[in-house]
Amino acid sequence: MMLRTPKKIVLAYSGGLDTSVMLHWLKHSYQCEIIAYCADVGQGQELLGLEEKALKTGASKVHIVDLREDFAGNFVFTALKAQAKYEENYLLGTALARPLIAKKHIEIALLEGADTVAHGATGKGNDQIRFELTYHALLPRINVIAPWRIWPFKSRHDLLNYAHIHEIPVEASLEKPYSIDRNLMHTSYEGGILEDPWVEAPEAIFQSTKSIKHAPDEPEYVEISFAQGRPVAVNGQSLKPCQLIEHLNQLGAKHGVGRIDIVENRFVGIKSRGVYETPGLTILHQAHRALESITVDREALRLRDNLSVKISEIIYYGFWFSPEFKIIQAMLDEMQKPVNGDVRIKLHKGNCIIAGRQSQNSLYTKNLASFDNSDTYNHADASGFIKLNALRLMRGGDHEIVG
Ligand code: ARG
Repeated sequence: MMLRTPKKIVLAYSGGLDTSVMLHWLKHSYQCEIIAYCADVGQGQELLGLEEKALKTGASKVHIVDLREDFAGNFVFTALKAQAKYEENYLLGTALARPLIAKKHIEIALLEGADTVAHGATGKGNDQIRFELTYHALLPRINVIAPWRIWPFKSRHDLLNYAHIHEIPVEASLEKPYSIDRNLMHTSYEGGILEDPWVEAPEAIFQSTKSIKHAPDEPEYVEISFAQGRPVAVNGQSLKPCQLIEHLNQLGAKHGVGRIDIVENRFVGIKSRGVYETPGLTILHQAHRALESITVDREALRLRDNLSVKISEIIYYGFWFSPEFKIIQAMLDEMQKPVNGDVRIKLHKGNCIIAGRQSQNSLYTKNLASFDNSDTYNHADASGFIKLNALRLMRGGDHEIVG
């Protein structure tokens, strides 16, 4: 895609060093109006003062948009229904926020009549792909600028230098020991001192979860209720998606639940070490799966479980707004219809243990599973079932046996 000379740019701005320098650099490189856009996805960072800072740095206007409820209800819960875990462990906290941030970015560009959007993701990561795939899917004619891929700066030191020369207000000064991305769902840490996969993450990096050592000795029970696969209440109290996640984050964090340390494969082909804390969603994933086990038919569940790896990849790679994901979402909604009921979970020293599950539409039939005699299941039927299944195995001679 050839870059046309931008006339008006909406920059995804966080107020940090990178995007502050970016704001100034874009304005001076292209001599055009820059509008700053900041998405609140629950990063908990001080948004107060952000507008003033952006204006001081050269923005003509600032949009701060609260996307937390949309994020929780439409992105996080969709991934929950899919039981999506990238490479078995990563619950996709960052990957889920990106398409939403990018969607709003495009909406603001349209609202402001801007022809260009710019973002602060680097050229080595997944986030640039997730942002830009979304821009292209939603507004193909938009111009995209990713300054990290074109500007002359190579390091944090270069940026600090530029900020100093141009009197850009920035707080950061020291070298950051690692990169953090935080939102309602998780906090991720990568880079810097975490780049050696043999070196343990220092306890001090964790922003929310207690260490197992300092988690309470006494277990705590929590009951979560679901309607059509969506969590709707905790301990009998109805909560909106965002509140519900915040509440479980607190509970999980207190008990040291939801830390992982992995080496993951980025879409660009790089292996990357990542440390994450995802307390609330770790609880929700287990609870949701436990409820599915009594409410969803075996083959329906198999189908979704087989797709789950693919879904995680779609989300991780940034194809949220794609034809394939649209089909998958319709399927998920359909297969989650019976996922109604409650799950009781015990939180204890980093563990999240299922203690009970119940549903009005449970498929679990006690008298079928039990060893007592019943009329519904005829033991004699099992003989034919086994015989026919054994038919193609009964050729003999294929396997060595002693005797
Ligand atoms: N590796 C994770 C992902 O690709 C987290 C990325 C976090 N981004 C960051 N700028 N630290 O989803």
